[in-house]
Amino acid sequence: MGAKNTGAKKLTAPALAAHNRNPGADKLVMVTAYDAPGARMASEAGADLILVGDSLAMVVLGYDDTLQVTVEDMAHHTAAVARAKPNCLIVGDLPWMSYHVSAEETVRNAATLIRAGAEVVKLEGGRKRLPMIEAILDAEIPVMGHIGLTPQSVHTMGGFKVQGKHAEAALEIVADAKALAHAGVCAIVLEGIPNPVADMVSDAVDVPTIGIGAGGGCDGQVLVYHDVLGIEDRFVPKFVRRYADVKSVSVDAIARYAADVRSGNFPGPDESYSMDEDQAEALGLYGSGT
Ligand code: KIV
Repeated sequence: MGAKNTGAKKLTAPALAAHNRNPGADKLVMVTAYDAPGARMASEAGADLILVGDSLAMVVLGYDDTLQVTVEDMAHHTAAVARAKPNCLIVGDLPWMSYHVSAEETVRNAATLIRAGAEVVKLEGGRKRLPMIEAILDAEIPVMGHIGLTPQSVHTMGGFKVQGKHAEAALEIVADAKALAHAGVCAIVLEGIPNPVADMVSDAVDVPTIGIGAGGGCDGQVLVYHDVLGIEDRFVPKFVRRYADVKSVSVDAIARYAADVRSGNFPGPDESYSMDEDQAEALGLYGSGT
């Protein structure tokens, strides 16, 4: 069963790329989702884009970084999201090492995500990724860029650290964004950079910028599902705003269920199946209340 349609027209990759040509356009809303229920909720809430992010590794699969997920993992979760038929553009994240070896392998991996149901693929990195971006675009697959704090570079960055804090590094980020836009990406995620740098990038490119930890000047925002809903409470980054406390509601619900099971209060008569009395009698179950 597909998600409820909010009435809004579903975003396409070309419409996303042209977003900034409409000066009155609302800011773009992207949220991650990794399964069909998450996709249905994002769609019913009116999100424009769903990112099946490789954050899957950390928020769903329990790894410490995003380097552990494979193309197969990403395709599995992208397919689950796509089965919900959300009224949102589905962006599939290319995981680490899926676009680093050769153009041929890169296109094949991008195609795997498209066949799983993604409509755009996202990859991390600036100018050095241009040959792979061009190869994917050549195969008629829309690409979203992702620069700034790129979690797949956690070891080269020495941790999940804000990028572009020094003028020289900031200018590199702007140059990367211009090169990606020139190559034909349909949007660029800006992660973990100071607001003024994000604003410089947004002014420098004609495709929309979608920020996460990059301030309010971007053309849209993206947050991780588990952060928006307060499912992940072990570490809350500075840039996250939690709109619910689903973890504590869930822990409380499971604790009440456990108490009911232990006390014999669950299941009750309304939560059990009965049997016709004559059939119960045939089994010798007299007055069993079945
Ligand atoms: O994988 C992810 O969730 C992402 C967002 C943080 C942009 O790439």
